[in-house]
Amino acid sequence: MTLTGPFKQILTMDNLPWKGHLSDEQLEIVPDGGIVHHEGKIVAVGNFHELKQHFKTIIELLDGDFVALPGMMDVHTHICWAGSRATDYAMRLSGKTYLEIAEAGGGIWHTVRETREASVVELAELTSQRAAKLLKDGVTTIEVKSGYGLSVEQELKLLEAIWLADRNTKADLVSTCLAAHILPKDFEGNETGYLQLMIEKLLPEIKSRQLSNRVDIFVEKSAFSIQGAKPYLLKAKDMGFKLTIHGDQFSVGVAALANEVEAISIDHLEAATESEITMLAKGDVIPVVLPGASIGLGDPFAPARKLLDAGTSLVIASDWNPGSASMGNLLTEAVILGVYEKLTMAEVWAALTCRAARALNKTDRGVLKVGKIADFIAFKTNDYQEILYQQGALKPEIIWKNGVN
Ligand code: NIG
Ligand code: FE
Repeated sequence: MTLTGPFKQILTMDNLPWKGHLSDEQLEIVPDGGIVHHEGKIVAVGNFHELKQHFKTIIELLDGDFVALPGMMDVHTHICWAGSRATDYAMRLSGKTYLEIAEAGGGIWHTVRETREASVVELAELTSQRAAKLLKDGVTTIEVKSGYGLSVEQELKLLEAIWLADRNTKADLVSTCLAAHILPKDFEGNETGYLQLMIEKLLPEIKSRQLSNRVDIFVEKSAFSIQGAKPYLLKAKDMGFKLTIHGDQFSVGVAALANEVEAISIDHLEAATESEITMLAKGDVIPVVLPGASIGLGDPFAPARKLLDAGTSLVIASDWNPGSASMGNLLTEAVILGVYEKLTMAEVWAALTCRAARALNKTDRGVLKVGKIADFIAFKTNDYQEILYQQGALKPEIIWKNGVN
């Protein structure tokens, strides 16, 4: 058993509602705190000196002023890719849009070609390097999508690479099957044929090899239609997969589908209007907003403030991918969204921790509380407000994954 501390402040992120607006007064802050943990689980959180008297533990004594928070969770990334799309970025700066580049054969298809050429070991290495970078920035749980393989064999290769990368990184990786990213240009048939093939050949294989229990689809003009997505998602749900959807990024109509199929989350929502917001407020689908994609494309942010005020939950993720979100710096992106959308500090931190845990169905983490996984991070400051105030320039100094730093 180890007692880590003292921390000037511990933000436990405990006892917060999972939906709706939050004020900073709702944050539970333990002053002069300590965290007792054993075999990767939290045993107690409280006043450091009281814990020291109460528990016979090894003491991991910190020197200086630190603020502790739960490890961040990035619930939406595409970090399993090879190659680069710097050329797409340059084209966008010269005035071409993301959709125009995609239609001209660049975009996702460009990365598919480069990723198909990489071996499973190369891809696992690239994925674990990116995961290690996120971990260094304080992200202890990372969702990773496939989606740059786009054939049964190649999608399995990506999911194997993610599985391997999970073994080679300290962070926990949670994989999602995004075989329905776009209709691959070399598929002889239409979207119905492609999705049918994935249902028959890919999803059962993923299930039996336990490569993932989550299915995602990109529903957009340049990708899959709402009509095509619905039976695919329902079939995947029948097979026991949890659902998440890329939707309402450039055009709307997907929020209704997300409610209908009871997806865990709908991710993007940059194009969402009052009607989508109202619809989401009626159900339990979690809006995951991706400021990195707005920054990468120069597009407006998703209406995060309006969503929270309407009463939905809100999670912020990086969407780190080679095309639309190349920065891969979750905290900086969340800060930028927060300042433009007027999110309170409590709302930003909840979107990166306790509320994010729910979007991944991982309620064993995201709060600092007895029984939860000992994933926590410490920033060198005496006041939690300094962290967002420094807009990503203040990085976590120490990161504990399963109680180990
Ligand atoms: O979430 N929207 C679809 N997929 C990614 C982009 C992937 C890419 O451009 O390579 C996204 O933005
Ligand atoms: Fe994405």
